[in-house]
Amino acid sequence: MQKTTNPFNPSATGASRDRVRIFDTTLRDGEQAPGFSMSRSQKKRIAQALAELGVDIIEAGFANASDDDFASVKAIADEIRGPTICALARCQNSDIESAGRALASAQRSRIHVFIATSDLHREHKLGMSKQQVIDAAIASVRRARDLCDEVEFSAEDAMRTDPDYLAEVMAAVIEAGATTFNVPDTVGYTTPAEMGAQITYLKQNVRDCDKAVISVHCHNDLGMAVANSLAAVAAGARQVECTLTGIGERAGNAALEEVVMALKTRSELYGVDTGIQTSRLYPTARLMSNLLGFTLARNKAVIGENAFAHEAGIHQHGMLKHRGTYEIMKPEDVGFAKSQLVLGKHSGRHALRERLSTLGHETSDTQLDEIFTRFKTLADKKREVFDNDLEALALGRDPEALGPWRIASLNCTSHLGGMSSASVKLEHDDGGSASEASIGDGPVHAVMHAIERATGCTLDISDFQVRSLGIGSDAQGLASLAVNHQGKEIRGNGVSTDIVEAAAQAALEVVNRIERMSPQTQEAPTKLQGAAR
Ligand code: KIV
Ligand code: ZN
Repeated sequence: MQKTTNPFNPSATGASRDRVRIFDTTLRDGEQAPGFSMSRSQKKRIAQALAELGVDIIEAGFANASDDDFASVKAIADEIRGPTICALARCQNSDIESAGRALASAQRSRIHVFIATSDLHREHKLGMSKQQVIDAAIASVRRARDLCDEVEFSAEDAMRTDPDYLAEVMAAVIEAGATTFNVPDTVGYTTPAEMGAQITYLKQNVRDCDKAVISVHCHNDLGMAVANSLAAVAAGARQVECTLTGIGERAGNAALEEVVMALKTRSELYGVDTGIQTSRLYPTARLMSNLLGFTLARNKAVIGENAFAHEAGIHQHGMLKHRGTYEIMKPEDVGFAKSQLVLGKHSGRHALRERLSTLGHETSDTQLDEIFTRFKTLADKKREVFDNDLEALALGRDPEALGPWRIASLNCTSHLGGMSSASVKLEHDDGGSASEASIGDGPVHAVMHAIERATGCTLDISDFQVRSLGIGSDAQGLASLAVNHQGKEIRGNGVSTDIVEAAAQAALEVVNRIERMSPQTQEAPTKLQGAAR
């Protein structure tokens, strides 16, 4: 049979398949978006899950943004093994040195330096000439080389940069020692055809371009982040920067699960592999959405509840005859576990461990003991325990937000057509306690107000949501609360069959996070001032 050339990727028909590195920036670009701020323990938990998922590089944060960001990058570098751990830095010595210190204990480390190259950013934001930008880039790459194993350089706003100048920057940073050259579509402006042409142009016009891996970093402002990333791969990019579920600045970044499944499902077209364990995609995305208290859209590609649901009669008929009629990926390929009634109060430890494992939570004996105790308490309260309930049990509470305040007692009443009232007794780790009561416009309002009075902490609420974790009126409610505190967003979650208690737990998590913040952290400026992300 005659071999045909793949028009999208001529090398795809060849015998050797390239590896595309998956660079995950959930903890850096993703975390910076409103609604997705994470505590250090949440970041560590997600980093561990990303390592198990098989990402090649974890961008753990921007170490010089604050003491807290530094500590998070350092904790991930200290503890996570497998992927390269990366930290972001502007082309400034203080940023680069801070990144180097935070990464010192990583198994393999990367500093990611960036500076804007488009005329728009250079002239209006940086006030630097083309030569000044190149000089700063070269000096920064050289400095970073001394402090870590790998250096990535990003030309911020590359897709609105004159291609000749971009090629000049690329040649200069490769000569200075950059091992990866990243082409960001910082404002999500480009199209797949333009992206393909840009990568092809760089490959053809940059001397020694093979000495660095070409990377792409696409934002989703026009909904083309994944398509643009795939076009870059087809043209020869061998690293894709992306985030779990696509969280990120403004409309977000390219969604990791979509990029990976497109490369796998259309493998004959792209001719490349990734190191991702795709059966961990669904559990990892669920872990993140549960930890951060946000809901994944049902129709979300690859990981949404509806992604594998076939409702229309004609589709079901086709599926019964041959799954391939309407299914291009198998649910098990992405680890999709359909939500179902599973356990009740007579279920044992073995059944619990089995189901948790199906949901992507492997447990040690000690963890299982602890979860089992809470499972029994829950199963006594509600007859039917669903997958969502089990996931909430497996996540537990964030240890960073457990104290110093705890709820000792809570009472509330609501009156149709009248005010609600609530009283709380809170205990503090220093041995003290505080009791307060309040009326409010509804029980949640009353209890939040009582907590504010008892703790002396004002809650400037920017977002509050309660959603059911299961089916039926005895379902557990997950309350998610976001509060503005000194220019930062602080989040808290609570889970209970009593939604007022869940709201009170979420409020106390926020109060505890605020009380635990050092004065230094509280005064930290907003991250990455002056950089468009
Ligand atoms: O979007 C962007 O340009 C960035 C860079 C820092 C890579 O996030
Ligand atoms: Zn970005």
